[in-house]
Amino acid sequence: MMNNFLSAVSTILVISLLSACNPASSDSATEEPPLAGAAIGGGFTLTNQDGEKISDTDFAGKYRIIYFGFTYCPDVCPIDLANLMNGLTLAEKEDPAMAEKIQPIFISIDPERDGPEQLKQYVDNFHPRLIGLTGSVDEIAAVAKKYLIIYNKREAEGFSDYLVDHSRQGYLFGPEGEPIALLPYDGTPQQVADEIKRWTQ
Ligand code: NI
Repeated sequence: MMNNFLSAVSTILVISLLSACNPASSDSATEEPPLAGAAIGGGFTLTNQDGEKISDTDFAGKYRIIYFGFTYCPDVCPIDLANLMNGLTLAEKEDPAMAEKIQPIFISIDPERDGPEQLKQYVDNFHPRLIGLTGSVDEIAAVAKKYLIIYNKREAEGFSDYLVDHSRQGYLFGPEGEPIALLPYDGTPQQVADEIKRWTQ
């Protein structure tokens, strides 16, 4: 699903992901989050799966798990989202109070096909609290740029419609929208849960 440029970007981000996977130090409370100070993220106003306008400020005080993708993605997005949301579910079971402070968010980079109704059916498959966000083509382009997500429509053999190559990231942001860490979207639910707990406790 990725061209060479996207692969290169992913490689750079995998390096920071690997550094985030080093064994936890004895005192993780004082450990610097791997994405601390990174110029990733920022404000947005988009439309949720119920057709309501939602802004980043609506999540003030909550950690956010943010994944960008598209509902027609045949393989990558569903697997990544399942890993991330199963990890969140596991973290919720282990620490219900903490998990309530975490908002999972899926942002579509295919707004022409992913309207609110399409998103609503999709997000329900992964987590009961997962919010799906879409917007105009320009709104999505602006938010993707802020969150360092690259995407590109392309025709694909064997598919009747287009596919969208896109960056894969399992972002964890803090209560003020600050970037914290990259969650291991290709890891086990336990690995995802451990990384969530590491930065939210
Ligand atoms: Ni995808």
